[in-house]
Amino acid sequence: MKKKIKNNVSWLGKVDWELEKFHGEDYSTHSGSTYNSYLIEEEKTVLVDTVWMPFADEFVENLAKEVDLKKIDYIIVNHGEVDHSGALPALMKLIPETPIYCTANAVKSLKGQYHEDWNFNIVKTGDSLDIGNGKSLVFVEMAMLHWPDSMATYLTEDNILFSNDAFGQHYASEKLYNDLVDECELFEEAIKYYANILTPFSAILRKKLDEIIALNLTIDIIATSHGVIWRDNPMQIVEKYLDWSNDYQENQITILYETMWNGTKKLAEKIAEGIYLEDPDVVVKLYNVAKTDTNDMITEVFKSKAVIMGCPTVGNNILNSMAGFIHYIKLMKFKNKKAAAFGCYGWSGESVKVLNKLMEDAGFEVISEGYRNQWNPDLEAENEAVEYGKSLAKV
Ligand code: FEO
Repeated sequence: MKKKIKNNVSWLGKVDWELEKFHGEDYSTHSGSTYNSYLIEEEKTVLVDTVWMPFADEFVENLAKEVDLKKIDYIIVNHGEVDHSGALPALMKLIPETPIYCTANAVKSLKGQYHEDWNFNIVKTGDSLDIGNGKSLVFVEMAMLHWPDSMATYLTEDNILFSNDAFGQHYASEKLYNDLVDECELFEEAIKYYANILTPFSAILRKKLDEIIALNLTIDIIATSHGVIWRDNPMQIVEKYLDWSNDYQENQITILYETMWNGTKKLAEKIAEGIYLEDPDVVVKLYNVAKTDTNDMITEVFKSKAVIMGCPTVGNNILNSMAGFIHYIKLMKFKNKKAAAFGCYGWSGESVKVLNKLMEDAGFEVISEGYRNQWNPDLEAENEAVEYGKSLAKV
């Protein structure tokens, strides 16, 4: 069922309450998600984006209940990724000649995924499309936010920015708007979304936000493609993005460790104690990398001024989960963050050196040679770990 947003603009998407993983198995969605499609019924009838492929038939059926499909004049594809374009093959079978407006890169992604040569109309930043009743759609390319094909579409007069993935959240709700849902839950999902999806593109994002702000558009509503629509003070999420894209950090140190026989775990806890003793204002968080959700930990790294990585030595190297997690950290291209390492060992003891090198390669400033302990920590080692924590508290 369509839900009216403003004047002749309606939401017509899918709330996916059961979704647990997104991007294959790569992104955990503890709060489900939504795929937001929008219908604009002015003199011209326009569909903005669709839904993920598993919901394609349901979407097309619902759309056909709301509007004669043959009366759809234009389809706007803000982004070719399958969670938004997934219903196009089913829809285009019924209305194959309908013009699709999208970026040149979106044509590549749509052809590459669906192997169809639909009626593509390529648009660039500043191009507009008259939809009657004195209103038009203005297109803004959003390359690398987060795909090369991404764009946003602005509806004049109603002042709605259809931002696609930008400003979105994986957050299922029947309540369509930011002011109707729990604010803490909403921002938890919004920052997780930014940290895990947009962090590598922060520099591009800053420029794009400046460009959009310079356009001086009145934005009354930001209609995203995931989660709730920002209608109450919509610029609050733009301001957050400006903040998050500017080498964001809070007064937080996160300790991430993996352990075999709990020796490194003991050191982790003692380091946390030391940080607290030295500076109780620092938020210290501690996670076992092998047992904790990867995307949640990335969000904690995003918020941190420093991370302290701990791992025992195995095979002259580090354990599996830690190696995989540091690979993920490297992909995020974090800036302006510090790192240090620690770990227990029985024989050769290379883990701290390996961690230092990997964190340096991931773009972190390694601020210490690290702390190593042979065999299980005794009282002396525990005290040394506390002191090590103290030495890292005020980085
Ligand atoms: Fe929500 Fe990049 O797709």
